[in-house]
Amino acid sequence: MSATTAIGIDIGGTGIKGAVINLTTGALLTDRIKIPTPKGGRPQDIIDTTTELLARVATGTDDLPVGICFPAVIKNGHTMSAANVSDKWIGLAAESVFEKALKRPIHFVNDADAAGYAESQFGAAQNVSGVVLLTTLGTGIGTALLNNGVLVPNTELGHLQIEGKDYESKAAYSAKEREDLSWDKWATRLQKYYSTLEALFSPDLFIVGGGVSKHHEDFLPLLRLKTRIIPAVHRNNAGILGAAALAVKHQD
Ligand code: BGC
Repeated sequence: MSATTAIGIDIGGTGIKGAVINLTTGALLTDRIKIPTPKGGRPQDIIDTTTELLARVATGTDDLPVGICFPAVIKNGHTMSAANVSDKWIGLAAESVFEKALKRPIHFVNDADAAGYAESQFGAAQNVSGVVLLTTLGTGIGTALLNNGVLVPNTELGHLQIEGKDYESKAAYSAKEREDLSWDKWATRLQKYYSTLEALFSPDLFIVGGGVSKHHEDFLPLLRLKTRIIPAVHRNNAGILGAAALAVKHQD
C-alpha cells in the first residue's frame, strides 16, 4: 500500500525548503522550514544544508519516503544541467549521492515537474484533460507539460530562444526585480513568451506558479492569449508537495 505521508524538499537557487506532507489532501503536516541556499550552489554545500534541513523536518519520522526537487534536467537520478547553481552538478549522480549523505532512499526530480505534478494531484490541474503547461516564474522559468494528467518530464522551456535570447533571462520574475520592470513592461515580455509557447504546443490551459503568482491580478489580465491562463494553487509549496507525492508514486 502507498504511504500517505512523505517528506518533500525543494532545492532552489535562493532557498532550500522542506515539510512533511499529507498525500491524501496535499496539506502540510509541519511548518515549512526554509534555509538559504549556500552561496555558489556547490553540491557538497547543498548536501550539508539539506542534511540539516531534513534533521529539522523529520524529527521522529525516520521511515517516511523523501522526495527532493532541483532546478535541473534529471535523468535516472543524475542532474544533467545547472542553471542558477554551480556547474559541478552537471552529470552528478545526485540521487545516490544524497542517499548516501541522508542515509535513506531518495527520489530526485526536476522542480517544475514536481510543481506540475502537485497541481495535477492537488491543485489547478486536478481533473483537467488535454494539454496543460505549467510555468513557474522565479529565479528562472520552470515548465511542466502534462497531457491528460501524465507528465512529460524535463521540458526546460524556460530556456526557449526568443529573439536570440535564453528567454528566462528576460521573463523570469528575477528579471523583473533585477531590472525594476513595471508590471506592464514585464507583461510585454511575458506576452512574447506565452505566445511562443501557445504557437508551439496549442495547450488547453496555462498555469502560472512561483511566488509572484500571488500577484496574478497585476499581470495575468494584461496578457492576450487564446489559451486560458490561471494562477497555480500551491505557488511556493508546489515543489515540496510534488516531490513528496512523486517519491511515494515511485516506491510502488
Ligand atoms: C532550470 C530548470 C528549472 C527552472 C526553475 C531553470 O533555469 O533550467 O531546470 O526547472 O529553472 O527552477
